Amino acid sequence: MIRLMQHSDVQQVFEIEKLVQSHPWTLKQFEESIDSYQSTVIERQGQVVGFCILQPVVDEANLLLMAIHPSQQGKGLGYQLLDESIALLKNNPVQIFLEVRESNVAAVRLYEKSDFHQIDLRKNYYPNPDGTREHAIIMVRACSDDFAALFK
Ligand SMILES: CC(C)(COP(=O)(O)OP(=O)(O)OC[C@H]1O[C@@H](n2cnc3c(N)ncnc32)[C@H](O)[C@@H]1OP(=O)(O)O)[C@@H](O)C(=O)NCCC(=O)NCCS
Repeated sequence: MIRLMQHSDVQQVFEIEKLVQSHPWTLKQFEESIDSYQSTVIERQGQVVGFCILQPVVDEANLLLMAIHPSQQGKGLGYQLLDESIALLKNNPVQIFLEVRESNVAAVRLYEKSDFHQIDLRKNYYPNPDGTREHAIIMVRACSDDFAALFK
């Protein structure tokens, strides 16, 4: 089941975030995301197992963050969560942007499966824990048919 994030979900969301990110968002950032963005969660058997945070901006949107609990990855939940979260956006965006670490193959493949295409590479954008830096792939998904034709 996919639904909007509630304040009572934030601790579970934060625990998942800490398991998957080297530079996790804080509890406060998740709290604030509920009012500032469109934050959704996916539940299985009453447990929150993933989350997705989209930022609507006028007639566009940015995918800020998403994750599935490591024990639940590879079961199609990330794809379902992203697809349904985009469908829930009230501003009906013409395009959606995201940035992803070049080495994050699982996420890049998920986004490609969800019709995102690479449009740019931001060099040395992300810091690594060892002090090195990593490129960001910038991707976009065109949501209207006219716009999608530009990427064909
Ligand atoms: C990226 C992430 C959200 C994917 O969620 P998931 O539930 O495991 O993904 P799904 O099972 O829905 O897979 C959807 C598609 O993603 C791709 N994919 C998922 N895991 C993959 C992996 N380990 N290697 C390669 N491709 C992978 C595949 O194309 C897959 O489609 P397929 O099963 O038809 O081949 C999850 O791995 C995760 O939480 N990672 C840590 C946090 C993160 O990196 N978030 C994104 C950046 S903010």
